[in-house]
Amino acid sequence: MTGASADALGFIRLTEVGPRDGLQNEKRLVSTAAKVEFVDLLSAAGFPEIEVSSFVSPKWVPQLGDAADVFARIQRRPGTVYSALVPNERGMDAALAARVDKVAIFAAASEGFSAANTGGTIAEVVARFVPVVRAAHAARIPVRAYVSCVVRCPYDGAVAPSAVRRVVEQLLALGADEIDLGETLGVAEPEDIERLYAELASVLPPARTTLHLHNTNGRALDNARLALQLGVRSFDASAGGLGGCPYAPGARGNVDTAALLAMLVSAGYETGVDGAAVERAISSITHVLRADAS
Ligand code: HMG
Ligand code: MG
Repeated sequence: MTGASADALGFIRLTEVGPRDGLQNEKRLVSTAAKVEFVDLLSAAGFPEIEVSSFVSPKWVPQLGDAADVFARIQRRPGTVYSALVPNERGMDAALAARVDKVAIFAAASEGFSAANTGGTIAEVVARFVPVVRAAHAARIPVRAYVSCVVRCPYDGAVAPSAVRRVVEQLLALGADEIDLGETLGVAEPEDIERLYAELASVLPPARTTLHLHNTNGRALDNARLALQLGVRSFDASAGGLGGCPYAPGARGNVDTAALLAMLVSAGYETGVDGAAVERAISSITHVLRADAS
């Protein structure tokens, strides 16, 4: 990894997911121009990765129906990976045409969320990803694989860490390059995160995971601190704490990028991300969302 200074504790990789997770959950449609400006300001902040949008069905997530236009219009900064969610082969074709640098497939650890979010059982959804991963690797594009509901599901309740491990094993067997653990509801306590990583220890080390924390109960920073102690070195965050999934009722936004960054910097970690530039991106999108709401 680049950007680590000699006296820092180490490098933490931040993926900014606001343009995707944040904007998918807004009631009103944000214009393509406003999304492009948001992504460009985030690029200026120096994130190693920005999750720009999703090539999903616009019937399911109309907010991100302009993914191809957004990709066509953003200014790509060398050093930033521009990624997108892909649910199936059709989405993969569109993502390749848009020249994404990386794709994110998404499965769940609970059957209730799998059905509500992706219209299939866990097994069906994992099977859908087989040709997607094959196509990504043929195009030399890495694959992030999300597992949602790693602690609790809005439909099925508590999720056992062993259920998460089983899905992680299937996604690794498919060839996923990165496992991203989604705490979709934002209700985890640090003990839940500890139990989860203890269960996953036999499958992959914490340093090979990304943690995607929503922050409904206000504990996301505490969970991130605990994860750092366990060895997690990659986190998702959302500018302004925007976010949530339309198919996860009750879930609030992701951990706020500015708050996570401040915590990491004060603890002595290096991220390569410029906090003042993050604030400019946050002002831009909050201005748009406030204007839309009025
Ligand atoms: P389906 O309805 O079961 O399947 O959806 P379908 O094949 O019948 O497709 C329905 C319609 O969508 C059809 O159109 C398809 O052509 C079209 P029609 O024939 O009715 O006119 N369609 C598409 N259009 C554009 N791009 C595509 C595409 N695929 C089908 N790729 C499907 C199955 C997976 C498509 C649907 O369930 C879907 O798109 N789900 C996405 C839901 C979503 O994006 N949720 C939010 C992201 S996940 C999340 O937020 C969690 C995360 O943040 C981590 C965490 O917090 O835990 C990642
Ligand atoms: Mg999410």
